[in-house]
Amino acid sequence: MAKKNDDFFVEKKPWSRVKDELLGCYLKPYVAKILHTRKPLVYVDCFAGKGKFDDGNPGSPLIALDIFQKGLAETKIDGKAQIGAAFIDLNYASDLETNLSAYSGVKIVSGAYEDTIDELLKNKCGCNVFLYIDPYGIKALNCSKFDEFANGQFNSVELLINMNSFGFIREGCRVMGRQFTVDDDSFFDDLVEYEPTMLDTSDKSMETLNQIAGGDYWKSIIEQYTGGKIDGYKAEEYFSEQYCQRLSESYTYVLNMPIRLKAGQHTKYRMIHATNHPEGCVLMAENICNRWELLKDIQSGGQMTLFQEDINNQIVDDATIRERVTEHFSQCSEWTSLTEAQAVFFIKYGAICKPGEIAKVLKALEKEGHLAVHRNPSLTEKGKPSRFMSEGHGNTVSIKWVK
Ligand SMILES: C[S@@+](CC[C@H](N)C(=O)[O-])C[C@H]1O[C@@H](n2cnc3c(N)ncnc32)[C@H](O)[C@@H]1O
Repeated sequence: MAKKNDDFFVEKKPWSRVKDELLGCYLKPYVAKILHTRKPLVYVDCFAGKGKFDDGNPGSPLIALDIFQKGLAETKIDGKAQIGAAFIDLNYASDLETNLSAYSGVKIVSGAYEDTIDELLKNKCGCNVFLYIDPYGIKALNCSKFDEFANGQFNSVELLINMNSFGFIREGCRVMGRQFTVDDDSFFDDLVEYEPTMLDTSDKSMETLNQIAGGDYWKSIIEQYTGGKIDGYKAEEYFSEQYCQRLSESYTYVLNMPIRLKAGQHTKYRMIHATNHPEGCVLMAENICNRWELLKDIQSGGQMTLFQEDINNQIVDDATIRERVTEHFSQCSEWTSLTEAQAVFFIKYGAICKPGEIAKVLKALEKEGHLAVHRNPSLTEKGKPSRFMSEGHGNTVSIKWVK
């Protein structure tokens, strides 16, 4: 029977705040950019919830709708800007009707994402599609569906997925008939599956997990975990790494942000962003770094941390950033777009620093004569050589390693 997990909406938890800000702070610049393609944006919140938490805080639907309203008001492209927003929920369609009533042209779908998404995306060829996928559990996340979305019918398609990676490890152990242990009983409070008894040791359950993971690579991770070769942290890390690699068969740029509430604790889940556009990847990397500041505050209870840590709680100092930037950009032996090179950097190393920090190192490398840079426009309005090291608003930058 479908489980509603009502407690989720009583009050907004800190990690929901991080998740919502990751969505909202990405959507703002994304909307501004995507409307300039002059193709409609089709936004689907596939597991939308109630729209609003019982404590009055906005849920993902209200966050997105406010951004769309402002984005449309600010976009000056002769009446061509169009956003169609749809919200699917299995249990809360009537709450959505009430909570979103102030917004016009909103589509609310009562049902399961897996049963309704095809119909919603039918006839949307040539549109820009953004899917927000925030389920409680993992069972509805069929990986081949994500492949299908990327098969070229849309002008662009981006996914932001909440993947309960540690939940997957738990399910994997269950399906392989192995013991799963976790030290903190409350750990899974927020990871309640909507049909928790569906998976067992049958071949059908094994196939379900293969479909979610997009392959059977997860089995050897479970073997290593239950055989004591790796601990739960590593199992979650390996699974997430390989899951992102699997998604990158259909989406060139896949980034993820681990959400753990205390430093050193198991990752609660990962927010995974998949896109075929380098600008989207760079935008999301910056967003992950900014949201990481908020998560770090939550993790440390507001206390200052001495060292600069990345999203995996690893120390990343200026010297490490310079070393990695040099290592990566020294591979650019042909003229390459800066944004593309930055996006590949983030895929290789993760969102370890903001794009601005990469730009600082690149400017130093340019000054030292290691990097050649073509800027367009090459001169400022006052006729001086341009110095910018970021693209957008009509500025383009190409770079090439010289020595
Ligand atoms: C984590 S909550 C979403 C929270 C929402 N993103 C927010 O910020 O307010 C997951 C939602 O998915 C709904 N749900 C569960 N199974 C579903 C399915 N198969 N298809 C669509 N919605 C589903 C639940 O009713 C629940 O409201």
